[in-house]
Amino acid sequence: MGGTMTELRTEVGKTVLELPGMVASGIMDETGASMVRMLRAGAGAVVTKSIGLVPKPGHDNPCFTEVKGGFINAMGLPNPGIELFKAEMDEAVPHGKIVGSVFGANAGEFAELAGKMEDYGACAVELNLSCPHAKGYGMEIGIDPELVKDIVSAVKDAVSIPVWAKLTPNTHMLDRIGLAVQDGGGDAIVAINTLKAMVISPEFARPFLSNRFGGLSGPAVRAVGVRDVYDLYETVSIPLIGVGGISDWRDAAQYIMAGARAFQVGSAVAKDGPEIFGKINRGLKEFMMDYGYGSIESMVGVAHE
Ligand SMILES: Cc1cc2nc3c(=O)[nH]c(=O)nc-3n(C[C@H](O)[C@H](O)[C@H](O)COP(=O)(O)O)c2cc1C
Repeated sequence: MGGTMTELRTEVGKTVLELPGMVASGIMDETGASMVRMLRAGAGAVVTKSIGLVPKPGHDNPCFTEVKGGFINAMGLPNPGIELFKAEMDEAVPHGKIVGSVFGANAGEFAELAGKMEDYGACAVELNLSCPHAKGYGMEIGIDPELVKDIVSAVKDAVSIPVWAKLTPNTHMLDRIGLAVQDGGGDAIVAINTLKAMVISPEFARPFLSNRFGGLSGPAVRAVGVRDVYDLYETVSIPLIGVGGISDWRDAAQYIMAGARAFQVGSAVAKDGPEIFGKINRGLKEFMMDYGYGSIESMVGVAHE
């Protein structure tokens, strides 16, 4: 079935992406220059590092380690605060689509941060409701369906750009949380953030990371992420974005076939560099031509049929 015109363009609700792969939040997206580099390498958009209201130093070292099949990090959401981050947005936004990731302790903080991201030129805002290693933030609020609905609807009232909610796999209620995002008016769900995890050093008889536990990412989490996207596709009707363990076109295709309209790459960008986007795009295009998929849209959710 070769020869078909193959389109990598995709739509996540009102957000049009010329290429379906984005840089996941927290990986080479802290400066305007690095975000521009990602866009040039073939990312359809870049999600910024999660930004809060005030500067935050993050956790002490060691806060990152490699494990078999992936990484465990407990960065603790280090960031310069939203005011200082404006300079990075000013540099990156003219070069392509930048999604502003934000984290807050309550609905009011999320709404304020999202409003700033809109003012700074973000094409969408991604709510980090899922970081597993920052006390009082992220996953601690992202596993309560009522709170999730309140946060999403407060942000929807505050901005006119699309609102995406990034969810944690560390829950037995992902379906209820997905529905809460939808009920709150959310435009898309991003799944998954890292899995809560730990490494112990046998020599020191202590957890390796200063924070003791962290979040597992990379190939080890992919099958969990694909299953979460598959489940969410059967539960909600808003668009899905897949993330977790993608390092080649086959991984990306799995998420799309599970129901994702776009995908994000984190750990593999850190490991292999931005060129990974060109490789994934070429591989996907070839596969789509060989198997008769004329568009990303035509591949979304086919594993359910
Ligand atoms: C070093 C590091 C920092 C991260 N920082 C953030 C962050 O600030 N906000 C967020 O929502 N996710 C963050 N993540 C999670 C990633 O965006 C992604 O959801 C996760 O790593 C799974 O994708 P991957 O296997 O492709 O890395 C971080 C991940 C890593 C490895």
